[in-house]
Amino acid sequence: MGESIHVPLASLLPGLAASTKENPPGSNPVTLPGRTFYIETFGCQMNEHDSEKVAGVLLRRGYRQVVSPDDAGLVFYNTCSIREKAAQKVFSRLGEFNPKNNAGRESGKVIGVLGCVAQQEGEEIFDRAPWVSLVCGSASYRKLPLLLERLESGERRVSGLETDTEEAFETELTRRNHPFRAYVTIIEGCDKACSYCVVPYTRGPERSRDSGSILGEIRELADVGYTEIQLLGQTVNSYRDPSNRHLIFSELLLAVAEIPGIRRVRFMTSHPRDMGTDIVDAIDASAALCDHVHLPVQSGSTRVLRAMQRTYTREEYLEKISLIRGVRRPISITTDFIVGFPGETERDFEETLSLLHLAQFDGAFSFQYSPRPHTAAALMSDAVPESEKLRRLQVLQERQRAIQVQRNQRLLGQTFEVLVEGASRRETQWTGRTSSNRVLNFTSPRKELLGEYVQVRVTGAGPNSLTGEQCIEYVPREAADGS
Ligand code: 5AD
Ligand code: SF4
Repeated sequence: MGESIHVPLASLLPGLAASTKENPPGSNPVTLPGRTFYIETFGCQMNEHDSEKVAGVLLRRGYRQVVSPDDAGLVFYNTCSIREKAAQKVFSRLGEFNPKNNAGRESGKVIGVLGCVAQQEGEEIFDRAPWVSLVCGSASYRKLPLLLERLESGERRVSGLETDTEEAFETELTRRNHPFRAYVTIIEGCDKACSYCVVPYTRGPERSRDSGSILGEIRELADVGYTEIQLLGQTVNSYRDPSNRHLIFSELLLAVAEIPGIRRVRFMTSHPRDMGTDIVDAIDASAALCDHVHLPVQSGSTRVLRAMQRTYTREEYLEKISLIRGVRRPISITTDFIVGFPGETERDFEETLSLLHLAQFDGAFSFQYSPRPHTAAALMSDAVPESEKLRRLQVLQERQRAIQVQRNQRLLGQTFEVLVEGASRRETQWTGRTSSNRVLNFTSPRKELLGEYVQVRVTGAGPNSLTGEQCIEYVPREAADGS
């Protein structure tokens, strides 16, 4: 039989493990014998959060979560297809259950493929891996309870692949993985049409969630002890409230920041075109809005940006950077790059490097272009050779690393508030994040710090993280003596 539900830190903190009013602490649904599930997630935070919702649906139906596929009756893979490598991963996982290669492991398990690969490949997954019983795309999750019912009543193969996008995927229960930070979807799908990107196909058109429902969920999260909220959407800042309150994104941010108990609000991912002054002003005005913006640029060449259908030029992007850097509060900026897009010349790449230098990003994710099915770019000629893509990636990553070292060095001696998220084996070592989303590993003599906000002075700086020591408040002797 399986292990306990995978909530390592939350289980230390009463009330934080599963967190809606339908599931107050101590009232987990009845577990039916043998009804166990395992879920592994690939890809972005949207997928992570979808898995939390899928786990909630299963818990509601009386399943119990286990930490190993070996112990599970139901094995789900929530998949990512943003790049080919990510998509391939799931087929190697599925291969582990191939009864042909695996005589000893003819399992009787129900194997399910969820998410973007499911949406992209559809029922062809059944042909490639006939031992799979469920295929459900990210745009069809509202069907999941129904599909489960059909499986439970003995059907061998079920699928949900319609782009069933009338409403967002809301569940009665979300089984949250993180004890302090809660993800909240505010907008699903994507209406941009970047020529390299499979997301509009796999996640369907953009639909924003009612602001009343968003704020209600966050109030409940605050009530059970969450202090950090991360608002999610593929283009989170394109949010438009469908309710008659008609909040725009910056108004929603401020409304979330005002909810009692919420100390930090993050959001991911912003599209440069919809990054307005109002959003930057809101961050500047409200301390609870974290001083970090993730603003993918993809390329520094206007010519490539046009081919990518990104709807902004190099200059327009740099204006957004100036806007963000122009306010009083230092806001950290991170980005994404794609190198080796079809037709990208050495000169285009030089422009990307020059933008990297001008923008001085605090962090960057960079990827080699990977052609995806159902995208406009997949039909473009003039592919860049793989070896050249790799070379460009390495040059870009090296330059960005040097920038990060330099920028982090400037933080030496400064003090930041850190939300403590983890402890290392050594008793005095802790780790957490600053509001700007930097990882800060620090020492403290205290023994109980998880979930707390503490002040940490930076004493060391690497490219990807900082080190420091907790500032222990100085208590004057007289005050300590009570005199
Ligand atoms: N090839 C390479 N990278 C891609 N991304 C999206 N689609 C592709 C693709 N086809 C990258 C973009 C995006 C990030 C999430 O993944 O940089 O911002
Ligand atoms: Fe993909 Fe572009 Fe939409 Fe982002 S904005 S999800 S890159 S299509």
